[in-house]
Amino acid sequence: MAGYLKLVCASFQRQGFHTVGSHCKNRTDCGAAPGAWSQVAVQKVNAAGTDPSSPVGFVLGVDLLHIFPLEGATFLCPADVTDPRTSQRILEVLPGGRADVILSDMAPNATGFRDLDHDRLISLCLTLLSVTPDILQPGGTFLCKTWAGSQSRRLQRRLTEEFQNVRIIKPEASRKESSEVYFLATQYHGRKGAVKQ
Ligand SMILES: C[S@@+](CC[C@H](N)C(=O)[O-])C[C@H]1O[C@@H](n2cnc3c(N)ncnc32)[C@H](O)[C@@H]1O
Repeated sequence: MAGYLKLVCASFQRQGFHTVGSHCKNRTDCGAAPGAWSQVAVQKVNAAGTDPSSPVGFVLGVDLLHIFPLEGATFLCPADVTDPRTSQRILEVLPGGRADVILSDMAPNATGFRDLDHDRLISLCLTLLSVTPDILQPGGTFLCKTWAGSQSRRLQRRLTEEFQNVRIIKPEASRKESSEVYFLATQYHGRKGAVKQ
């Protein structure tokens, strides 16, 4: 398992994770199992304190499934991001109650019906976005995976309402034939009056 995780990490580090700055100290990784993204996040923010010359960040992974312990990461599992009690638990665990970055690689169990799977994944991303005012620091970053489809524009519109910049990313590490695309939204400002200071 460790070798597999390292492979995925290396690939994402090369292809996409550099887009989320290492100055962002608190990261919440939703859909974290088995833990590859969390491994990269731990390295990026020095959450295990391996670099004594850099500040130590914090990585929180959340998943429905069990995740094996990882030095430098804290895991909430099993935990369902769509359950309001999970956002409360996230708030309690995050230092200062806020994340600088929310990452989501969440994926529902695929049914094989492309439109249905797409709708369910967009709905997961929208649910996560709806708890963002409670969790994300103003100026923060939100990165989520989607499968391209008819509801993608809806998610993009919602992100555009709440973030200064929204980009669609297809990392080279993502298979060309896969419909997976990532939304990278930066400079969180929330909807008018929605960001809780
Ligand atoms: C593609 S995997 C994530 C892989 C992970 N990013 C990594 O690097 O190892 C998708 C994960 O999303 C999780 N997931 C799906 N729905 C979820 C939900 N409602 N709440 C929390 N996690 C969820 C699944 O349990 C699954 O582990």
